[in-house]
Amino acid sequence: MHLFIVSCTPRIKEKSNTDKILEEFKKGYESCGNTTETFYLYKRNEWEMIRTKFYENDNILFALPLYVECIPGIMAEFLETLKPKQDSNTKIGFLLQGGFAEASQLRCCESYLETLPAFLGCEYNGTLLKGNMFAVSFIGSKMRKQLTEPFYNMGKYYAQNNYFRKEVVNDFAKPEYFSKKEIFFSNVFSPLNKLLFNVFAKKLGCKGSLNDRPYQNYVKE
Ligand SMILES: Cc1cc2nc3c(=O)[nH]c(=O)nc-3n(C[C@H](O)[C@H](O)[C@H](O)COP(=O)(O)O)c2cc1C
Repeated sequence: MHLFIVSCTPRIKEKSNTDKILEEFKKGYESCGNTTETFYLYKRNEWEMIRTKFYENDNILFALPLYVECIPGIMAEFLETLKPKQDSNTKIGFLLQGGFAEASQLRCCESYLETLPAFLGCEYNGTLLKGNMFAVSFIGSKMRKQLTEPFYNMGKYYAQNNYFRKEVVNDFAKPEYFSKKEIFFSNVFSPLNKLLFNVFAKKLGCKGSLNDRPYQNYVKE
């Protein structure tokens, strides 16, 4: 079977967590003798080709990061350029990953994705979701492997079942919520977390303070 993948992050390949996750997922998917091809929405000059491929393929996966509780703007923009398929038996699955660890905050976007394929004249093939992916691109290779390796098995699973079953996905996505104990320790270590976020922000090219409020002047009290 052939899987046509669209990576929906606005970040370039080298800086994208979605891309590192996809690498493992594809290895698992291809280990069963399948093939994949991946296209990137940040390459806007390829949108025409991606659209053509969208209409040609009937097994499609959109891989996306959670941006402000929903799909990235670039993905919304691309979706608006698609016309629904006519009389097709195309199936669309989703790989949704986010920065924060609790799966609960990916659920709103998941609900949206459940409805999306029908608008495109396609069938919904489930959503694989997972949080805690924030640091994938800038941690050491050993820790990165720990975070991304589980996606190998999910790639294999998708190849064998051609559907992300809810029970399997929910188990993979754990924790749904932090326990009280985890929240307590997270509060205790909050200054350390802040320090880490500053380091990550610098690595991502952030020059200002993380407490900056550039739009504060426009807020009416
Ligand atoms: C503008 C922006 C908004 C984000 N919003 C969320 C969010 O609402 N919830 C969350 O868990 N992670 C959020 N994240 C973190 C990303 O989902 C996470 O880092 C993801 O792995 C990024 O994948 P990418 O590098 O392929 O874009 C946000 C990141 C950015 C840059």
